[in-house]
Amino acid sequence: MDILKIPAISEFCRTAELIHSRGWAERNGGNISLLLDEDLGSLAPIRKLPVGCPGGLEGRYIAITGSGKYLRNVPRDPESNMGIFRICRDGVELLWGLKDGSGPSSELAAHLNCHSVRLNVDPAHRAVIHTHATNLVAMTFVHPLNDRDFTRTLWSLLTECIMFLPDGVAVLPWMPCGTEETGRATAEKMKESRIVVWAHHGVFSSGTSAEDALGLIEVAEKAAEIFLKISHLPILSKIDDSRLLDICKVMNIVPRNGYLSIPESPE
Ligand code: 13P
Ligand code: ZN
Repeated sequence: MDILKIPAISEFCRTAELIHSRGWAERNGGNISLLLDEDLGSLAPIRKLPVGCPGGLEGRYIAITGSGKYLRNVPRDPESNMGIFRICRDGVELLWGLKDGSGPSSELAAHLNCHSVRLNVDPAHRAVIHTHATNLVAMTFVHPLNDRDFTRTLWSLLTECIMFLPDGVAVLPWMPCGTEETGRATAEKMKESRIVVWAHHGVFSSGTSAEDALGLIEVAEKAAEIFLKISHLPILSKIDDSRLLDICKVMNIVPRNGYLSIPESPE
């Protein structure tokens, strides 16, 4: 089987290039994973890594960037910079790639846990992306780190933000990266919100395709950029809750429960 002909692999390479071109992948920053629909049962395992397998993933195939690999190098040499694994109950088996002997991203636990919870919510789910989106990271130093306030600020700064992120943006306080605990905490937040900001580090996002997951980061990142450009200036006009509710009505969107204040109906 010619792995490089699998459509998800070109999508993977294109996404790596795009993230790098945005400046969100300094050195080896960021990682990508995609669940594959192809049957790769004919590929013999090259080596196995013992890791916990969260529910619903056993027997699935996942493409993921390698640990320490620069996203900008993925398109030019996929076989060295990414790997395809079979997910087993007690670990992951490398079937293709990572030919220099390196392992999968240090954020494997976060990717696996996020895939597991998102598949429960949406069977069409396929992609998880982690990037070091500059403005979102900057915002975590100067904005309260709770899901509702963070979301409300982003929604109020870009008209279409609420349309694409109606479930809001979740935020995790700073935690060490690359651990099971952080992976599980990220997935816990992802049950409700497809995008989770890691304070002072980056963002995780999920979607039905890499483009879908990246699109969410682009929207949140643009709103964060506007926040940093205007938050120190006198504000003369706003997208307030009544305007946000108008957008929801026109676009038929249900915003996250309790995030907008509903105006009191006249007696
Ligand atoms: P990896 O190179 O192991 O994927 O780590 C990059 C990163 O961004 C860790 O959070
Ligand atoms: Zn990171």
